[in-house]
Amino acid sequence: MEWIKSFSKKIRGKALILVLTFFASPLAAQTSDSGISQEVVFYTVIGLVLVVAFLVLILAIYLMQILKAVLQKEMSPEALAKIEAAPSWWAKTWDKWNDLRPLEEEENIMLDHNYDGIKELDNHLPPWWKALFYGSIVYAVIYLLIFHVFKTSPLQEEKYEMEMAAAAAIKVNQTATVIVDFDESNVTFNDDNAALMAGKKFFESQCAICHKADGGGLAGPNLTDDYWKHGGSMTDIYTVIKNGVQGTAMIPWESKLNPNKLREVASYVKSLRGTNPAGALPPDGALYVEEKEGVNN
Ligand code: HEC
Repeated sequence: MEWIKSFSKKIRGKALILVLTFFASPLAAQTSDSGISQEVVFYTVIGLVLVVAFLVLILAIYLMQILKAVLQKEMSPEALAKIEAAPSWWAKTWDKWNDLRPLEEEENIMLDHNYDGIKELDNHLPPWWKALFYGSIVYAVIYLLIFHVFKTSPLQEEKYEMEMAAAAAIKVNQTATVIVDFDESNVTFNDDNAALMAGKKFFESQCAICHKADGGGLAGPNLTDDYWKHGGSMTDIYTVIKNGVQGTAMIPWESKLNPNKLREVASYVKSLRGTNPAGALPPDGALYVEEKEGVNN
């Protein structure tokens, strides 16, 4: 049996190397700059380790089976018969964890009350049930210590707050480079040609299916005339594009466009005024008169 010991030692050494390679893998090292959270990597690694452990276990069982077959071949018939007569490991374990009283012994554990023929046996709780019960008490104590006494791990609510704060920090970081010195109340027309071209490009790719590439209107209203359902000022147009119109096909675009982009698209829509494209839809909504003629605000 010496060779089995040395063999298992070798296997153990290999498994350890395998686990270490996982932890030291470049995947784990890149985490912070690639933006994958440490937690995801941690659980992925644990998952992979478990899969490998499972495969090793299957292999071990398989090897044991082969070993058993080889050993049985070597044994004398008497020794083999003795082994086969003995209850299997599984049967012994089953008995141990259930600890059932044999049917013949029921007489001894019968309680002395009898309700209309309904009798009761004084059975004890099966060991597997008791193990679960004591296990849950131990678990509860550990849980209490971790979460409520030493507070080494955050509770659900705290964890939620932490994740929200982390997400907010990422968002701030992403929008940090966008300088926004306006909101819908004071947004002005951006007459910069590059900005209008960018707005046109976005409009033609995203808005044209409903408003037509020239703004003449299809499923959505004509955006080139002086009649507006929600007003024709920069503030009105910017607000409609940002928030959408609830209950209609006009969705909010806030999540897809940062304020500067929203302003570009709104300015482009504003610039369509009076272009009078062929086949445009008839006026819809109320007549909008510029507050200050000539100033596009
Ligand atoms: C899926 C169809 C659809 C798409 C895509 C769409 N819209 Fe609209 N849009 C509508 C509809 C429908 C309305 C009318 C809402 C209402 O009835 O109040 C509307 C209304 C508007 C209005 C207000 C018009 C008014 O008369 O007051 C503006 C401005 C506008 N859209 C701009 C845009 C821009 C800019 C985009 C692209 C970023 C866009 N829309 C994409 C369907 C669409």
